[in-house]
Amino acid sequence: MLKKIIAFVGSPRKNGYTNKLIEETIKGAQSLGAEVKIYDLNDDGVKGCQGCFYCRSHEGCSTKDYLQPMYEDIKNADGIIFGSPIYFMQISGQSKLWLDRMFPMIEGSTFPFQARYPGKKVVTIFSQGNENKDAFQGAIQSFNNAFPMFGWELIDSLLCCNTGSPNFKISDKLLEQAFTAGELLTR
Ligand SMILES: Cc1cc2nc3c(=O)[nH]c(=O)nc-3n(C[C@H](O)[C@H](O)[C@H](O)COP(=O)(O)O)c2cc1C
Repeated sequence: MLKKIIAFVGSPRKNGYTNKLIEETIKGAQSLGAEVKIYDLNDDGVKGCQGCFYCRSHEGCSTKDYLQPMYEDIKNADGIIFGSPIYFMQISGQSKLWLDRMFPMIEGSTFPFQARYPGKKVVTIFSQGNENKDAFQGAIQSFNNAFPMFGWELIDSLLCCNTGSPNFKISDKLLEQAFTAGELLTR
Protein backbone atom coordinates (compact mmCIF):
# COMPACT_ATOMS: atom_id res chain seq x y z
CA MET A 1 0.00 0.00 0.00
CA LEU A 2 1.15 3.57 -0.76
CA LYS A 3 2.99 5.06 2.23
CA LYS A 4 2.41 8.72 3.07
CA ILE A 5 5.18 10.81 4.58
CA ILE A 6 4.94 14.43 5.75
CA ALA A 7 8.10 16.54 6.03
CA PHE A 8 8.38 19.70 8.16
CA VAL A 9 11.23 22.10 7.37
CA GLY A 10 12.20 24.23 10.37
CA SER A 11 15.11 26.04 8.71
CA PRO A 12 14.56 29.25 6.74
CA ARG A 13 17.57 28.44 4.51
CA LYS A 14 16.34 26.60 1.45
CA ASN A 15 19.90 25.60 0.53
CA GLY A 16 20.98 24.99 4.10
CA TYR A 17 22.22 21.78 5.69
CA THR A 18 18.98 20.88 7.47
CA ASN A 19 17.06 21.13 4.22
CA LYS A 20 19.69 19.12 2.34
CA LEU A 21 19.37 16.27 4.86
CA ILE A 22 15.57 16.46 4.78
CA GLU A 23 15.74 16.22 0.97
CA GLU A 24 17.99 13.16 1.22
CA THR A 25 15.58 11.51 3.68
CA ILE A 26 12.73 12.26 1.28
CA LYS A 27 14.72 10.68 -1.57
CA GLY A 28 15.11 7.51 0.52
CA ALA A 29 11.36 7.41 1.19
CA GLN A 30 10.53 8.07 -2.47
CA SER A 31 12.95 5.35 -3.61
CA LEU A 32 10.52 2.88 -2.01
CA GLY A 33 7.49 4.57 -3.55
CA ALA A 34 6.35 6.85 -0.70
CA GLU A 35 4.21 9.90 -1.40
CA VAL A 36 5.73 12.94 0.34
CA LYS A 37 4.20 16.30 1.23
CA ILE A 38 6.40 19.13 2.52
CA TYR A 39 5.47 21.95 4.92
CA ASP A 40 7.77 24.98 5.05
CA LEU A 41 7.62 26.18 8.67
CA ASN A 42 9.12 29.51 7.57
CA ASP A 43 5.98 30.30 5.57
CA ASP A 44 4.52 33.73 6.42
CA GLY A 45 1.16 32.09 7.04
CA VAL A 46 2.28 30.04 10.06
CA LYS A 47 0.75 31.15 13.36
CA GLY A 48 1.71 30.06 16.86
CA CYS A 49 -0.65 28.21 19.19
CA GLN A 50 -3.32 30.59 20.52
CA GLY A 51 -3.77 28.64 23.75
CA CYS A 52 -7.54 28.42 23.19
CA PHE A 53 -7.75 24.78 24.31
CA TYR A 54 -10.13 23.97 21.42
CA CYS A 55 -8.07 20.82 20.85
CA ARG A 56 -8.78 19.56 24.38
CA SER A 57 -12.37 18.86 23.36
CA HIS A 58 -12.12 18.58 19.53
CA GLU A 59 -9.80 17.00 16.99
CA GLY A 60 -7.66 19.45 15.01
CA CYS A 61 -7.00 23.13 15.64
CA SER A 62 -9.19 26.25 15.57
CA THR A 63 -6.41 28.34 13.96
CA LYS A 64 -7.09 28.57 10.22
CA ASP A 65 -3.64 29.20 8.77
CA TYR A 66 -1.01 27.60 6.52
CA LEU A 67 -0.62 24.69 8.95
CA GLN A 68 -4.34 23.89 9.15
CA PRO A 69 -4.22 21.06 6.53
CA MET A 70 -1.40 19.32 8.41
CA TYR A 71 -3.79 17.84 10.97
CA GLU A 72 -5.64 15.78 8.37
CA ASP A 73 -2.33 15.02 6.60
CA ILE A 74 -0.69 13.78 9.81
CA LYS A 75 -3.74 11.71 10.70
CA ASN A 76 -3.42 9.88 7.37
CA ALA A 77 0.39 9.69 7.34
CA ASP A 78 2.63 6.71 8.05
CA GLY A 79 5.78 8.70 8.71
CA ILE A 80 6.99 12.17 9.68
CA ILE A 81 10.28 13.91 8.86
CA PHE A 82 11.21 16.97 10.88
CA GLY A 83 14.32 19.13 10.67
CA SER A 84 15.59 22.21 12.51
CA PRO A 85 18.82 24.14 12.87
CA ILE A 86 20.07 24.92 16.37
CA TYR A 87 19.53 28.62 17.13
CA PHE A 88 20.78 29.95 20.46
CA MET A 89 21.21 26.45 21.89
CA GLN A 90 17.65 25.40 21.01
CA ILE A 91 15.48 24.49 18.05
CA SER A 92 14.62 27.39 15.71
CA GLY A 93 11.66 29.68 16.47
CA GLN A 94 9.86 28.34 13.38
CA SER A 95 10.19 24.82 14.82
CA LYS A 96 8.93 25.80 18.27
CA LEU A 97 5.80 27.37 16.73
CA TRP A 98 5.18 24.04 15.01
CA LEU A 99 5.75 22.02 18.18
CA ASP A 100 3.19 24.11 20.07
CA ARG A 101 0.71 23.58 17.23
CA MET A 102 1.13 19.83 17.76
CA PHE A 103 -0.96 19.99 20.97
CA PRO A 104 -3.85 18.32 19.05
CA MET A 105 -1.68 15.19 18.74
CA ILE A 106 -2.58 14.41 22.35
CA GLU A 107 -5.92 14.39 24.11
CA GLY A 108 -6.89 14.93 27.71
CA SER A 109 -6.41 17.90 29.99
CA THR A 110 -4.05 16.44 32.54
CA PHE A 111 -1.04 14.17 32.55
CA PRO A 112 -0.87 11.41 31.38
CA PHE A 113 -2.22 12.56 28.02
CA GLN A 114 -3.44 10.05 25.44
CA ALA A 115 -2.03 9.88 21.93
CA ARG A 116 -4.69 10.78 19.32
CA TYR A 117 -2.91 9.43 16.22
CA PRO A 118 -0.44 6.82 17.45
CA GLY A 119 1.60 4.35 15.42
CA LYS A 120 3.62 6.68 13.17
CA LYS A 121 7.33 6.59 12.57
CA VAL A 122 9.40 9.76 12.85
CA VAL A 123 12.89 10.92 11.82
CA THR A 124 14.38 14.13 13.18
CA ILE A 125 17.30 16.11 11.77
CA PHE A 126 19.31 18.87 13.43
CA SER A 127 22.12 21.08 12.22
CA GLN A 128 24.51 23.18 14.28
CA GLY A 129 27.61 25.31 13.91
CA ASN A 130 29.27 23.83 16.98
CA GLU A 131 31.58 20.89 16.32
CA ASN A 132 30.69 19.18 19.62
CA LYS A 133 27.83 16.74 19.00
CA ASP A 134 26.95 16.77 22.71
CA ALA A 135 26.71 20.56 23.01
CA PHE A 136 22.92 20.83 22.57
CA GLN A 137 21.78 17.30 23.38
CA GLY A 138 19.54 18.71 26.12
CA ALA A 139 17.50 20.68 23.56
CA ILE A 140 17.50 17.84 21.03
CA GLN A 141 16.42 15.22 23.59
CA SER A 142 13.74 17.50 24.96
CA PHE A 143 12.33 17.97 21.43
CA ASN A 144 12.56 14.26 20.62
CA ASN A 145 10.77 13.46 23.88
CA ALA A 146 7.52 14.85 22.44
CA PHE A 147 7.18 11.88 20.10
CA PRO A 148 6.60 9.07 22.63
CA MET A 149 3.79 11.30 23.97
CA PHE A 150 2.25 11.29 20.50
CA GLY A 151 2.62 7.49 20.38
CA TRP A 152 5.18 7.80 17.57
CA GLU A 153 8.38 5.79 17.20
CA LEU A 154 11.55 7.84 16.70
CA ILE A 155 13.45 5.62 14.30
CA ASP A 156 16.45 7.92 13.82
CA SER A 157 17.69 11.35 14.86
CA LEU A 158 20.45 12.87 12.74
CA LEU A 159 22.82 15.63 13.77
CA CYS A 160 24.97 17.65 11.40
CA CYS A 161 27.73 19.40 13.39
CA ASN A 162 30.48 21.92 12.67
CA THR A 163 28.65 23.62 9.80
CA GLY A 164 30.44 26.90 10.49
CA SER A 165 33.86 25.51 9.64
CA PRO A 166 35.49 26.71 6.39
CA ASN A 167 34.46 24.69 3.30
CA PHE A 168 32.10 22.53 5.36
CA LYS A 169 30.41 19.70 3.45
CA ILE A 170 27.93 17.16 4.79
CA SER A 171 29.72 13.81 5.00
CA ASP A 172 28.70 10.97 2.70
CA LYS A 173 28.07 8.91 5.84
CA LEU A 174 25.47 11.38 7.13
CA LEU A 175 23.84 11.66 3.70
CA GLU A 176 23.61 7.88 3.58
CA GLN A 177 22.13 7.82 7.08
CA ALA A 178 19.48 10.29 5.93
CA PHE A 179 18.62 8.24 2.82
CA THR A 180 18.41 5.04 4.91
CA ALA A 181 16.20 6.78 7.49
CA GLY A 182 13.82 7.68 4.65
CA GLU A 183 13.74 4.06 3.55
CA LEU A 184 13.10 2.89 7.13
CA LEU A 185 10.19 5.34 7.41
CA THR A 186 8.62 3.74 4.39
CA ARG A 187 9.12 0.06 5.24
C1 LIG B 1 20.16 32.99 15.01
C2 LIG B 1 21.17 31.89 14.97
C3 LIG B 1 21.57 31.30 16.15
C4 LIG B 1 22.48 30.24 16.14
N1 LIG B 1 22.83 29.65 17.30
C5 LIG B 1 23.65 28.58 17.29
C6 LIG B 1 24.00 27.93 18.50
O1 LIG B 1 23.54 28.27 19.59
N2 LIG B 1 24.88 26.90 18.44
C7 LIG B 1 25.41 26.47 17.25
O2 LIG B 1 26.17 25.51 17.25
N3 LIG B 1 25.08 27.06 16.08
C8 LIG B 1 24.21 28.11 16.08
N4 LIG B 1 23.88 28.72 14.91
C9 LIG B 1 24.42 28.16 13.63
C10 LIG B 1 23.44 27.23 12.96
O3 LIG B 1 22.97 26.23 13.84
C11 LIG B 1 24.10 26.55 11.78
O4 LIG B 1 24.52 27.53 10.86
C12 LIG B 1 23.20 25.56 11.11
O5 LIG B 1 23.97 24.79 10.22
C13 LIG B 1 22.10 26.23 10.34
O6 LIG B 1 21.30 25.25 9.71
P1 LIG B 1 20.85 25.41 8.18
O7 LIG B 1 22.10 25.25 7.34
O8 LIG B 1 19.89 24.33 7.97
O9 LIG B 1 20.23 26.75 8.04
C14 LIG B 1 22.99 29.79 14.89
C15 LIG B 1 22.59 30.41 13.71
C16 LIG B 1 21.70 31.45 13.73
C17 LIG B 1 21.26 32.09 12.44
